[in-house]
Amino acid sequence: MTERKMAHINLAARSIPESLIPDQRFNYEPLLSGHTQHSSKYSFLGKSLGHPLWVSSMTGGAKDAGVINHMLAEACAEFGLGMGLGSCRTLLQSDEYFDDFNLRPVIGFELPFYANIGIAQIEELLLNNELSRIDDLVGEKLNADGLIIHVNPAQEWLQPEGDVFLIPPLETIERFIDHLGHRYKLIVKEVGQGFGPQSLKKLFRTEIDAIEFAAFGGTNFVNIEIERKRSDHAQYMYPMGNVGHTAEEMLEFVNSQLADCSVCNKSLIISGGIKNFLDGFYLVSKSKLPSTYGMAFRLLEHAMISKKDLFDFISAEIDGFRFASKFLTIRESVE
Ligand SMILES: Cc1cc2nc3c(=O)[nH]c(=O)nc-3n(C[C@H](O)[C@H](O)[C@H](O)COP(=O)(O)O)c2cc1C
Repeated sequence: MTERKMAHINLAARSIPESLIPDQRFNYEPLLSGHTQHSSKYSFLGKSLGHPLWVSSMTGGAKDAGVINHMLAEACAEFGLGMGLGSCRTLLQSDEYFDDFNLRPVIGFELPFYANIGIAQIEELLLNNELSRIDDLVGEKLNADGLIIHVNPAQEWLQPEGDVFLIPPLETIERFIDHLGHRYKLIVKEVGQGFGPQSLKKLFRTEIDAIEFAAFGGTNFVNIEIERKRSDHAQYMYPMGNVGHTAEEMLEFVNSQLADCSVCNKSLIISGGIKNFLDGFYLVSKSKLPSTYGMAFRLLEHAMISKKDLFDFISAEIDGFRFASKFLTIRESVE
């Protein structure tokens, strides 16, 4: 007791915030809730999550990628999260890296688990009449609940070995949906620049199940490709890295324009630049559609340290989100 009191006295000076402006997104309401925790369940894409956090698509088929993937899948199983694999393109060529992606046995059948392929590969298989190879990948090989298609024209534009899209991605998606006929679920995402209003509007009118924002503000593949290239030409391309849409901007558009539309029975993975549970809570609370928040880099940086570090981070995410659910309200929604 005396020790605790002494700590309070010693730490008080250090506790004063540098900025006097509190987080403007929330009202803090200390009177209106108790501490008692009831574990909540979040229904998403036909499955039940223990916490509305999505492990956004990352890696596979490279050194250490398998270890990281298995760690991420173990975290999903432990905390009840959903997971999208990184691009599974390599599995279309060989099974050399199958173990990196074979995570259904780790994550279990109760939680959402999705394969991932680039729009360029879908286009190629479509033009070669080989789309059934995607079905085999999603179903037989990976036992996934569905497929995430990543649409990344800005990244491909800058990649030395980048793919060239022969037809607009929307058309490829629509033709893939015709082929699919709802046999498994379909999600479309960007990789860190997000989608503009016209693209979102068109996507909402397709029969996909969910959109992952992969918005601007976090990992930026335009900048990554420019750094990777390091040519004289590349150094002048940096302005491209500032192009895109933030998660908040995209959500505002979806809420204002699309949530009431009768054909828009979609779910959202709100991702791209999400730093912590407060960002996640804010955006998920504001969304008019069933939503989770997604993280890529934040999870990767902890997984690269250790499994314990990753688990500590996620456990704190859940704790913080629960606190927010009890004691914070979104400012705009206050009467
Ligand atoms: C190392 C790394 C690899 C990634 N690889 C893929 C990928 O294969 N497929 C994909 O759809 N997105 C990929 N992404 C993009 C993420 O899924 C996510 O959309 C993006 O990083 C923005 O989220 P963040 O700001 O939380 O990192 C990758 C991201 C990282 C950091």
